[in-house]
Amino acid sequence: MSFAVIIGMSGAVLFAAVVLYGSLRRSRPSAPISIAGRRFPDGFLWATGEDAYQHEGGNLNNDWARWEAQDPSPIENGDRCGNAVDFYNRYESDFDLAARDGQNAHRVGIEWSRVEPEKGRYDEDAFRRYGAIIDAMRRRGFVVFLNLWHFTLPLWAADEGGWESAEVMERWEALVRQCAERFGPRVDYWSTMIDAQIYALAGYAVGEIPPNQKDIRRALSVYRTLIHAHARAYHLIKIHAAPPAGASAPRVGQIYFFFHYEPKGLLLDRVITRQMDRIFNQNLLDALYTGTIDLRVLLGPSIREHDEALRGTLDWIGVNYYTREILSFNPFKPGFIERKTCTSSPATDMGWEIYPEGIYRLCKTLGGRYPGVPLFIAESGLADAADDRRPRFILEHLAWVHRLVQEGCPITGFTYWSMTDNWEWAKGFGPKFGLYRVERATMERVETSSARLYRFIAHNNRLPEESELDAILRGDG
Ligand code: BGC
Repeated sequence: MSFAVIIGMSGAVLFAAVVLYGSLRRSRPSAPISIAGRRFPDGFLWATGEDAYQHEGGNLNNDWARWEAQDPSPIENGDRCGNAVDFYNRYESDFDLAARDGQNAHRVGIEWSRVEPEKGRYDEDAFRRYGAIIDAMRRRGFVVFLNLWHFTLPLWAADEGGWESAEVMERWEALVRQCAERFGPRVDYWSTMIDAQIYALAGYAVGEIPPNQKDIRRALSVYRTLIHAHARAYHLIKIHAAPPAGASAPRVGQIYFFFHYEPKGLLLDRVITRQMDRIFNQNLLDALYTGTIDLRVLLGPSIREHDEALRGTLDWIGVNYYTREILSFNPFKPGFIERKTCTSSPATDMGWEIYPEGIYRLCKTLGGRYPGVPLFIAESGLADAADDRRPRFILEHLAWVHRLVQEGCPITGFTYWSMTDNWEWAKGFGPKFGLYRVERATMERVETSSARLYRFIAHNNRLPEESELDAILRGDG
């Protein structure tokens, strides 16, 4: 046999082995972790929160409300957000529950279409109401997190071209300044926006949410714009929310949804996974950390630029972690990416894998990638109408968070998402995330076993012993 044939044959065997390994490799479910009695450091933040559009109700003057009103409905079950869970009117009693439950931090958001219903005209009543909401949080001693933008645009802004319009960017800057001047000293942590990459990619590339475009170039351009929108807001808040002498400077960051991605096999699956990790999990925060925007899509457009005004514009990162996705290369799928879940793990009502270990692996990565930037778990939760997986979900995620804290990862607190059931965007009211179930006919808040568990944890600043658990869940703990 010639040398060339031997090389050729061993190459073929190696290739077959790699392909076989790839197809046989199975992702492991979350590793077991001990929960018993783990205590958190003093001052650890225990939070829940509400989003403007997902909880307030009565926001009919934005692009989401218009989108939902279409026939046929783009929303599962044909739901409309309408009065949501009426948080705008019920915030006092919702905060009472949170305070009674031992929470010491809370997040709310501003709905742009409410405070600026027409371009350039502010609604003073709406600003007053947000001021009252913030004061109500402070009266209960909560550390106040305020988010400024999440997915929805006032109709006038959407009609003017949304984030693709320079005038909308000007109005955004004016809005940020208004909020900074009005609420400045009363807010502890500012979030400029939530899940910006999802908005750019799902709104402009996949076309799943408003403005329902399918154009990767425009998606990258809006992605870039949102990075600049964050940085401009960061600097404006620093100037205009300046607290009285002696108090600490405003802390500005943003809240961001991360997937824990794993490749199904080798080679192309890994290439695809690295690509998704970059565009979905890393590019935006990298830009705010280093000043360099480097957006690239496999075989597609790219944007690369450096701007010193972006660099160092993250005082904290709000980590939203829900689940893991297993990725593989598939030439027949959009972007050549096939997204699956690990079927040997338990799943939520939305089919999302429950993978608590992911919160540990993700935060380890973030801690290494952005040294010096504190992490705050801004959302962790699940859709679980029966409330039969939620208690374990909370305990195991928190056990991993505890391990992170012990290992020196700078985690300042944890938010269960969310306090009550909420409007789950294109999934409507179907998924039930709340510690408190909401009877939508009466808007009554109904306590779940998980609410009792979270109350025990927040009050005691520790996880329960296994022997305490049943009594806590029953409500005699
Ligand atoms: C979003 C929430 C949403 C949650 C679950 C988060 O990243 O900020 O609006 O309810 O994901 O889908």
